[in-house]
Amino acid sequence: MQYGYFDNDNREYVITRPDAPAPWTNYLGTEKFCTVISHNAGGYSFYNSPEHNRVTKFRPNATFDRPGHYVYLRDDETGDYWSISWQPVAKSLDEATYEVRHGLSYSKFKCDYNGIEATKTLFVPKGEDAEVWDVVIRNTGDKPRTISAFSFVEFSFSHIASDNQNHQMSLYSAGTDYHDGVIEYDLFYNTNDFEGFYYLASTFDPDSYDGQRDNFLGAYRDESNPIAVEKGQCSNHTQTCYNHCGSLHKQFVIQPGQEVRFAYILGIGKGNGARLREKYQDLTQVDNAFAAIKTHWEERCSKFQVKSPNQGLDTMLNTWTLYQAETCVVWSRFASFIEVGGRTGLGYRDTAQDAMAVPHSNPEMTRKRIVDLLRGQVQQGYGLHLFDPDWFDPEKADVEPSKSPTVVPTPSDEDKIHGLDDTCSDDHLWIVPTICRYVMETGDMSFFDEVIPYADKGEATVYEHMKAALDFTEKHVGATGIAKGLRADWNDCLNLGGGESAMVAFLHYWAIQEFVDLAKHLGHDDDVARYQQMATKVQDACETHLWEDEGGWYIRGITKHGDKVGTAQQAEGKVHLESNTWAVVSGAVTPERGQKAMDAVDEYLYSDFGLHLNAPSFATPNDDIGFVTRVYQGVKENGAIFSHPNPWAWVAEAKLGRGDQAMKYYDALNPYNQNDMIETRITEPYSYVQFVMGKDHQDHGRANHPWLTGTSGWAYIAATNYILGVRLSFEGLIVDPCIPTDWPGFEVTREWRGATYQIKVENPQGVSKGIASIQLNGESIEGAIPAQAEGSVNHVTVVLG
Ligand code: IFM
Repeated sequence: MQYGYFDNDNREYVITRPDAPAPWTNYLGTEKFCTVISHNAGGYSFYNSPEHNRVTKFRPNATFDRPGHYVYLRDDETGDYWSISWQPVAKSLDEATYEVRHGLSYSKFKCDYNGIEATKTLFVPKGEDAEVWDVVIRNTGDKPRTISAFSFVEFSFSHIASDNQNHQMSLYSAGTDYHDGVIEYDLFYNTNDFEGFYYLASTFDPDSYDGQRDNFLGAYRDESNPIAVEKGQCSNHTQTCYNHCGSLHKQFVIQPGQEVRFAYILGIGKGNGARLREKYQDLTQVDNAFAAIKTHWEERCSKFQVKSPNQGLDTMLNTWTLYQAETCVVWSRFASFIEVGGRTGLGYRDTAQDAMAVPHSNPEMTRKRIVDLLRGQVQQGYGLHLFDPDWFDPEKADVEPSKSPTVVPTPSDEDKIHGLDDTCSDDHLWIVPTICRYVMETGDMSFFDEVIPYADKGEATVYEHMKAALDFTEKHVGATGIAKGLRADWNDCLNLGGGESAMVAFLHYWAIQEFVDLAKHLGHDDDVARYQQMATKVQDACETHLWEDEGGWYIRGITKHGDKVGTAQQAEGKVHLESNTWAVVSGAVTPERGQKAMDAVDEYLYSDFGLHLNAPSFATPNDDIGFVTRVYQGVKENGAIFSHPNPWAWVAEAKLGRGDQAMKYYDALNPYNQNDMIETRITEPYSYVQFVMGKDHQDHGRANHPWLTGTSGWAYIAATNYILGVRLSFEGLIVDPCIPTDWPGFEVTREWRGATYQIKVENPQGVSKGIASIQLNGESIEGAIPAQAEGSVNHVTVVLG
């Protein structure tokens, strides 16, 4: 069953049936003001932090995605009313047609009902802490119509997300006020004129308004039947105390074939409502702001565009996977309809991996995230698993919380730094390759010399921070010399403690290799020797202790009591995706063993929806292994198709030269390929999800937790760098694809340091991998392509064979 389609020309997903089985979401905002909005206009806004600066309210885990950012229309001759988004009024789909276009940082809602065509486009202009609703109402009939428009948002009850359920003080300290087309909401009377001060404004002069939620909705009513809309008139009431909303109402008489256009503006900061109301009264300013959002994403997407025989791959890489990866980097992982802002800040490993995917499209944010992460690293080398970058931001540290209840106090050092009890064994290792990729992209070698403080004490250059990360893992190994599992490794639910993690050992090997390449490039011979030695030690331990000969794969780890996890003899948790993929990705193991390990992955873990994380699922609780043994079978980390490690299998297969296999796995996970199976998938088909129910679960194939997953970053890296093979090294641009044998070739346009590379790959012999020749601007070349002059357009022809 299908509910919409991909419009590639406009980089939009178009929902044609609003009764999709779940809210399909989008993210508005590219800087600090963010709205998570569904295709039915449900959702919420926040400023900077989804936990601490909630602007509008949301009731999570309900059957409806409410409240939202709604516009109601009312026929003032008949009293009939509807909303431009299907919900909340939900007219019968036999009488009204709806279309929603989720684009890059905007969503456009369209409704055709009873001779009135209305659109509402929501977006956050660059440079403003506000969301604009661009509304057009058109009379498509043959007689004049009298139509009223009403906005509705419910302001957040507290600036703290979780307090929206249980906070009482806002009942007494919060209030709305109305002046000249602006409803102002002050969350803390007389305290902070920016954070905690929200507004809703309109470009028209309202006929009536409501700042009081219950006046607008009415007792024993909800967003589907507000009393104000039913009556055609708001109560003209604002109030201190109670619950608050922003509703501005205007009646329009629209002649046949004519339209009216106006804007609502939802935002933060005293005075901004009046300022933006004036600015956007000139609707060309709205057009300009919208065009700037379009340009913002065109510029980012244009850094890497592909034309291949796989339409699903092109659609996802050219637009959606990059967009999702950037969303994770910019908003981190705590703002969706599942993660509703219960925590703030960065997951160390998540952000380090996410940032690895976008140095080409968003070098500024990549750099910022790297600095955030290095500030969250302690001198011993491990990273603080969850932390708020504001704790370490010198500008933020100056703000005195006692002066404002909306400023979040910085916790004490003991609260920030939990020590090894809270340390995950992988967190810090991801930062090493991320830094390398950032510098390869930008060429900013001086970044390695930048001095950044540690979270606890002291400071070091970026280069020394990287060494501290590698050294920490070298020191924290178990009895066999394999890295300890600590609180968890990449798998939150694998809690091996003092036991050992195969995945982290392989990851350590990979990070060391990346660092050695860097040290060689910098001519730091002592470090090259020292870290090569470290790598050899890790490699020996891996090959000696992790290979499971009977099964022909790599085990997942060893418990603190010395029991292996993932052997042929075990009935549960026999084969694991993370260790086997990382064995190959890391380069630590022989091709023979690598191939066998990946054959086992195919045999035990493959399904039409992607690769399972482990099989069979655990069914017997075992606290030596961890919480994973207490998660239901086929769910999340216990035998689901956990999406994030799937791309590691694509990289592994590409490294083994098995392009058909890599593409088989790519296609299985690709949401695009499930666009016509929504009855099974349920979730939006333009976003990777955290996990898909595995074959041990009755809902096998159902996709859960869209958007905020490391899958997007890794899917992007794996497909662009390893399947298409267009990646960077310190020496230059490498083109080394591993594609399906039936691809005749493909084309990529890559922008790098201001030059354009138009890459054409030809595959006359139907191979997967192997370079017969490379030409740069008509000249034969071997190895990496050095950076070309800024502004130049370069033609690269690669023949496989
Ligand atoms: O790696 C983690 C991630 O940090 C949070 N979500 C689940 C993943 C796997 O456990």
